[in-house]
Order: sequence, then C-alpha cells, then structure tokens
Amino acid sequence: MVFETPRLRVVPWRDDHAETAHAAYSQPDFVKFLGNPTPHPDLAYTQQWVRRAADRNGFWAAESKATGELVGAALLQPLPGGDGEYEVGWHVFPAHQHQGYATEIGRSAVAHGFANGRNEVYAVVKPENIASLAVARAIGMHSLGRTDRYYETTTELFVIRRNG
Ligand SMILES: CC(C)(COP(=O)(O)OP(=O)(O)OC[C@H]1O[C@@H](n2cnc3c(N)ncnc32)[C@H](O)[C@@H]1OP(=O)(O)O)[C@@H](O)C(=O)NCCC(=O)NCCS
Repeated sequence: MVFETPRLRVVPWRDDHAETAHAAYSQPDFVKFLGNPTPHPDLAYTQQWVRRAADRNGFWAAESKATGELVGAALLQPLPGGDGEYEVGWHVFPAHQHQGYATEIGRSAVAHGFANGRNEVYAVVKPENIASLAVARAIGMHSLGRTDRYYETTTELFVIRRNG
C-alpha cells in the first residue's frame, strides 16, 4: 500500500484493475477534464495503460477497504512542465461519486507528500471542472489564479503549504 484514506487504500495498479478502469476511462464525460482527454478505445488499450501506470511512480489505484472494489485513482507527481513542484490529483469513477472519496484522496495524497518531504503541493484544474475546483477548496488549497503554463491549456492553479 502506498497510503490510505479513512475508507480507501491507495495501491500500485494491477492487471485485475483493467476492466473496472476501462469502464470509466472509456467514457468521454469522465476523461474530458484530464491531462489526456481522449477516451480509452478498447479494453486492450486500458490493459496496456494499467501496465504502464504500474511502472510509473506517482499514479496509483484507489480501492475500497470495505469491498476491495476499485473506486478511482490518486496522483502525486512532479508537475509536467514545472520546476520540480508536485501536483496532486484525484479520479473517482462515476458509480462512486458524490460520497466524499475525492476529498479523502486529495487530503491523504497531500499528507503523503508532506510526510515525504514536500513543503507545498499544487493542483491544476480546468476552470470548467466545477467538481474538481470544489475538491481543491474542500481540502484547504488556495487558488493562485489561472495560468497557461501546464498541460497546454488554461488551468486554475491551487497550492497548499505544509506550514499553512
Ligand atoms: C472531480 C471528481 C474527482 C469528484 O469526485 P467525488 O468523489 O464525487 O467528490 P467529493 O464527493 O469528494 O466532493 C467534493 C466536492 O465536490 C463537489 N462536487 C462533486 N461533484 C460535483 C459536481 N458534479 N458538480 C458540482 N460539485 C460537485 C461536492 O459537492 C463537494 O463539495 P463540498 O465539499 O463543497 O460539499 C470526480 O467527479 C471525477 O473523478 N471526475 C472525473 C475526473 C476528473 O475530472 N478528475 C479531476 C481532474 S483535475
């Protein structure tokens, strides 16, 4: 396990996650605000994607502690195009949304970053992604305004600092 939240465990991706992941990442509405907004075309694609994700540090699967079910994903990685600053991210699959899981993932991923030497953690959110803006605010992140610096698009940049 990489870290846990009250109701989830955050773990490296495994092959048996592919089917559930595919059901979410193949939906245009689910991926439209992600760094890569192209839906996964078929299960074979997601199987490869899961293997690559398993080899990549900083992007993990989030499973229910109660049922073992895959409910989403957590991200904590150097911000692409940045100067070494870290970004946090959260994905919660449609069947599990509106239950506070993204807020748990965000809070615990930030705590994991602080515990591993980060003094500040950023999030970049597309301004149309109302749900994700709410998550960033709910976990105590502060908006630094909009920027065109990351992911070749306009995003709202948030930060949370270890010492407030
Ligand atoms: C964004 C996402 C992670 C939210 O997951 P979630 O588990 O439903 O979020 P939570 O239940 O923790 O809700 C957190 C806040 O967002 C709000 N929220 C959640 N979904 C919302 C929606 N569709 N519209 C408006 N607000 C929403 C909740 O009301 C809550 O706000 P509050 O703290 O003020 O009450 C989920 O919709 C998702 O994975 N979307 C697709 C992937 C994505 O866009 N990821 C983020 C990339 S930056």
